[in-house]
Amino acid sequence: MTQIRKAVIPVAGLGTRFLPATKAIPKEMLTIVDRPTIQYIVEEAVASGIEEIVFITSEGKSAIENHFDYDFQLDTVLKEKNKNTLQEELNNISNLIDIVSVRQKKPLGLGHAIWMARHVIGDEPFIVLLGDDLVRSDVPCCKQMIELFDQVGESIVAIQRVPMDQTHQYGIVEGVATDIADTFRISGMIEKPAPGESPSNMAIIGRYLLMPDIFRHLGSATPGHGGEIQLTDSLMRLARERAMYAYEFAGRRYDAGDKLGYLKAVVDFAMTHPDLGSAFKDYIRSACDEKT
Ligand code: G1P
Repeated sequence: MTQIRKAVIPVAGLGTRFLPATKAIPKEMLTIVDRPTIQYIVEEAVASGIEEIVFITSEGKSAIENHFDYDFQLDTVLKEKNKNTLQEELNNISNLIDIVSVRQKKPLGLGHAIWMARHVIGDEPFIVLLGDDLVRSDVPCCKQMIELFDQVGESIVAIQRVPMDQTHQYGIVEGVATDIADTFRISGMIEKPAPGESPSNMAIIGRYLLMPDIFRHLGSATPGHGGEIQLTDSLMRLARERAMYAYEFAGRRYDAGDKLGYLKAVVDFAMTHPDLGSAFKDYIRSACDEKT
């Protein structure tokens, strides 16, 4: 059984959908209750057995690397003040996982960002997690995909059904159901089809388990939708060579890169937070009563 050890998390994007909040801080550092969105993503990877993470970064993203680094000064101050729980929590973050950063020097697209990881990944299957997509599930989404990989041994993209009038916001797959539950053999794929032209409502969400052959296609990829090098285009080329599967994962996905999606994530994560959940639910109820 091939072990999936490495994950790529592209964090080079500008976060224009969230300006002005993201003018001076990376969008991945926006907080959901008590931790930045990127921490949830990294925690999902860790909970799925990933041992090494490759961040694809750009200028102005050092706060992300610092967040997962050891902070000697902060550690010393917390120790002096006997804030042991907090000190332990911060050290746990820096001990979470090994992190490697690779700079994407030009914003040429998601496909190009993933291609930047080729030397660190080498010749093994790996996971990609997109920082905008937060997934809440009993079994971490990447773990579900790794379990499926143990059966199919080929690339897998996570999908969810979306209303047809939203398909233009996603990579869309076409596929045929297999004998394995919630799993489709991919026959076609298109990045952000024009309204009315989508072949299905199966939208790719930001979790991929990829065979290393993808790098061959990414290396020769030409610009696609929006003039960018799209991951979806190279996936389609790979799917023509060897089997690729779409997996309708169990869980709820939030588009944390969108203002409404982000707010939904904040509310849902707050309502189930162990310390704040019940007080927050009371507050939401009373706030809704006041407004009606
Ligand atoms: C990217 C992918 C797209 C996918 C989406 C999921 O698009 O290119 O195929 O459906 O992530 O969030 P983006 O949202 O970065 O434009």
